[in-house]
Order: sequence, then C-alpha cells, then structure tokens
Amino acid sequence: GVVIIDFGSQYSHLISRRARELKVYSEVVTASSTWERVTERILPKGVILSGGPASVYEQGAPLIPGWVFEQQLPVLGICYGMQALVHQMGGIVAPGDKREYGSAILRQNAIEGAEGDLFAGLPSDIQVWMSHGDRVDSLPPGFASVACSDNSPYAAISNGEALFGLQFHPEVEHTPLGQEILENFLYRVCYCRGTWTPKSFVSDSIHRIRNQIGDGRAICALSGGVDSSVAAVLLHQAIGDKLTCIFVNNGLLRKGEAEQVQDTFRQNLGLNLLYVDASERFITRLAGVTDPEVKRKAIGEEFIRVFEESAIELSDTQFLVQGTLYPDVIESETPDNRASARIKTHHNVGGLPEHMDLDLVEPLRYLYKDEVREVGMELGLPREIVMRQPFPGPGLAIRIIGEVTEERLEILRECDWIVLDEITRAGLYEEIWQSFAVLSDSRTVGVMGDFRTYGYVCAIRAVSSSDAMTADWVRLPYDVLGRISTRIVNEVPGVNRVVYDITSKPPGTIEWE
Ligand code: XMP
Repeated sequence: GVVIIDFGSQYSHLISRRARELKVYSEVVTASSTWERVTERILPKGVILSGGPASVYEQGAPLIPGWVFEQQLPVLGICYGMQALVHQMGGIVAPGDKREYGSAILRQNAIEGAEGDLFAGLPSDIQVWMSHGDRVDSLPPGFASVACSDNSPYAAISNGEALFGLQFHPEVEHTPLGQEILENFLYRVCYCRGTWTPKSFVSDSIHRIRNQIGDGRAICALSGGVDSSVAAVLLHQAIGDKLTCIFVNNGLLRKGEAEQVQDTFRQNLGLNLLYVDASERFITRLAGVTDPEVKRKAIGEEFIRVFEESAIELSDTQFLVQGTLYPDVIESETPDNRASARIKTHHNVGGLPEHMDLDLVEPLRYLYKDEVREVGMELGLPREIVMRQPFPGPGLAIRIIGEVTEERLEILRECDWIVLDEITRAGLYEEIWQSFAVLSDSRTVGVMGDFRTYGYVCAIRAVSSSDAMTADWVRLPYDVLGRISTRIVNEVPGVNRVVYDITSKPPGTIEWE
C-alpha cells in the first residue's frame, strides 16, 4: 500500500480514495506519525505528500518526517508536499507574487523518458489544476524540471530516481488525466500491485476479527443503516453465533422500519437478533422537549441505558462492534487540525456505553462510505440495505420541529413514507444522498372542498452530497414534487401545505434541527 502524509489539505482523503480506486490500499497519516506507528497497519511501498495551507519557510510549518528519507521510499509531493520536499532537500521556496489558481496547461520538457516516468503514456501537453501561493525558486541538487506551465517553470520535478514533485493537483477532477499520473506513480514507481478489493478486504477482515476475538463473544448495536449492517454481517461471517445484535426500537423510526430490519437480519441473513421495543420510554422521555440539542442528548442517554440493560443478559460478552468509518477516525485523531465549531452533536446509534468495559471491534475503521457499500455487496447484503440513504440516530425526532408526540410522529411517518415512495417510483432514490419530510410547527389556513382547514406545513428536503459535509438541494422534477404535495395533503390528515427546501449546506444543514 501507500501512505499519504496529511499536511492539512482538503484533498488528503481524496488522494487516498484515488489510490484505492486503483486497488492500492492507502492510509492517511499526520506528519508527526512515527514509522513504528505507520507500520502497525501498513508496510508502505511509497509516500504521497499532500498539499496544505502552510508555507514551508514559516516557523512551525509541518515537515516531512525523517523516516520517509531513511526508508528510501518513493515520494510524490503534491503542491505543499512538493515545496516541503524542495525545502528539506536544499532547494528554495519563496512567496509567489500572486496566487495561481485554476486550470493551466502542463508541458513536459523534452528529457529522457526514463522507465518509471510519471507521465508515461500521457500526451505531452495536459490540462492541470493549480492552486498555490508559494513557488519553487531553485531546485535541490540532483533535481530537474520535468514539466512547466506558463507560470511555473517547475510544475513537475524529479530527481531522476523515485522522488517527484507536482505543483498542481493530480487528485482533483479538474486534472482530467490526474488519475493516470497517480497510477504511474503507484504502479511504475512504487511497484504497487492492484490487489486491494472488497473481496480481499473481506477475507483479511475475517482473519483479523477471528484473531482479535478468539473464543470470545461480541455484541453489536444494529440500526439498520449501512454501516452497522455491514459491520454486523462481517462479524457474523467471522464468528457466527457468537455475535448478538441488539436492535433498539426508539419509537422514532420510519414506517415499517422495525419490521423490515427484523425480517432482513433475522429471517434472511440468519443473525442472532435481540429486538428491544423501547418506544414508550423514548417518547415519555421526550415529552415537553423542544430544543434540538436537548432532544439529541435525551435520546443518546436513553439509548445507552436501554442498550446496557439489554446487554446485561449477555454477561459473557467481551467485545462491542461499532461501524466507525475512516473519516471519523481521522477527525478524532487530529482534533488540533480540525478544531471546527460544534454545530450539532451527532449522537450515533452505538455511542459508547462507557462503563460496560468492552473491547471495541471496528472492522470498517479504515473504509470510506462508498467502500462500505462495495463490501456490503460483496457480503451479499440486499441492495435495499446497501444503498440506503443515511438516517440520523435520533431519527424522526429531529425532523419534528418543536415537541415530539405520538400524534406528530404518526403524521411525519405518513409524509415521509409518501416522499420515499414517490422518489423510489421516479427512480431517484439511489442518486439522492438523503430525501425526507420535515414536520414544521407552523400551521396555515387552507381550503378543502367547502371547508376551511388549519393544518401543519410539511417541508420536503432532498440533497445531493458525497460526505454530508457539504450538500446541494436536488432539482427534483416538478411532477415528482407535484405528486408528493398532492398525496401528502390528500392522504395525511393534519397537513394542508407542502413546501420544498431549496437551501444548500452551507449555509443550511441537512437536517432542520
Ligand atoms: P447536518 O444536519 O448536520 O447532517 O447537515 C449531516 C449528516 O448527519 C446526519 N445527522 C445525524 N446523524 N445523529 C446522527 O447519527 C445526529 O444527531 C445527526 N444529526 C444529523 C444527517 O442526517 C446528515 O446525514
């Protein structure tokens, strides 16, 4: 595999994903990671240095760790990564007069097309994406310019062996042939082989899980979402009946969901499933609560209590399975880098019951969301589960503005069902990140037949996104919106007006609370 050193670029994970698309396993580490730490997980055949916001000549700028040079690994420095390489190997990096941002044409210099060339098989002029302020003024000893652009004589550099620098970003879409460059680096320079696939991941994981758990027993909080489902099925394949899944019905689920999850996992997939109907407890606990964060906290606490009580019967259990994904890991490991303001506290189902003293099993800890889906398909999960849109742990509670009552939950459930049904019929379900209904606390006047109505406003939200960090509202066809509106007003008593939310994130968030 290959290691990506994260200098703080927004693209670090993108580089990692690109490598994995080429079936080369990749991990993102910080510049302060030691060689020992890195090799606990991966024996890298090469290193990619990400871009980053710093300037190498500034105090405290992150540097390439010594092990990169000591291990004599091939290196590809991108943007800041290239500047760090130049700086640390004796060249000069200086502040540019102006930022270079946007598309540029890269022209290869006519130098010997050595084997292992980064640009092998590419045309001599290609379009690339530049985004940098600083520039390389003079190269370190032994380096030469491989390609230039109008603004950069050193748009691509090499020491003729296995150290490369690129001033542009090969990982972004705006560099159309960027993936070929990364492929050349991984396959021709690092001699990586494309062996990392969902299949190999599954067999490696089963092996690892068996090693970790031995004869022990594990429990898993199953929500029916993609991550916990894939984690549970992977564990089941590894340890069979020594896994028990606990599925808590918090009363905040969508129509038919509790039955569907039980059918799928117990009947179809043969998992050991403990179903706990705690809906009344949750609804009671939420009485009178209107503040979104108080709702979240109440639901989170109640969940842990229910989970612990249910798990008491399984006293010979030593392990807790969680569907943690890679981006969560990175964010929690480098709090200094991403000290972003807390907008919402995302309590996930499976939030840690601390005093249960269980060891964690996190089989998806190094996967991205789309990879989890591929692994799910590999494991034979039904497509409805694998392609499921994300659903928040606090469920419908954060889609009911104001107090959550049994009556309002019932109203929202019906609206939500109609949205899902129409979106699915229109063939749009899988291409939309999330689509759902929100029940506002506003009531408006309407007319039905000869009668005045006074009912709730229901909002429809549909967004596209790749990671929920940013999102855009989906341009749903008018006729789909029309059908949703007509059906909701006709079929759901209590709602007499439907509106469509056309706010992106930022400045909006995906959920209304
Ligand atoms: P926002 O609303 O912050 O949502 O744009 C981003 C993503 O997170 C989901 N979400 C939650 N998930 N517990 C969860 O498990 C929560 O409290 C929570 N709040 C939001 C939301 O559905 C979207 O996918």
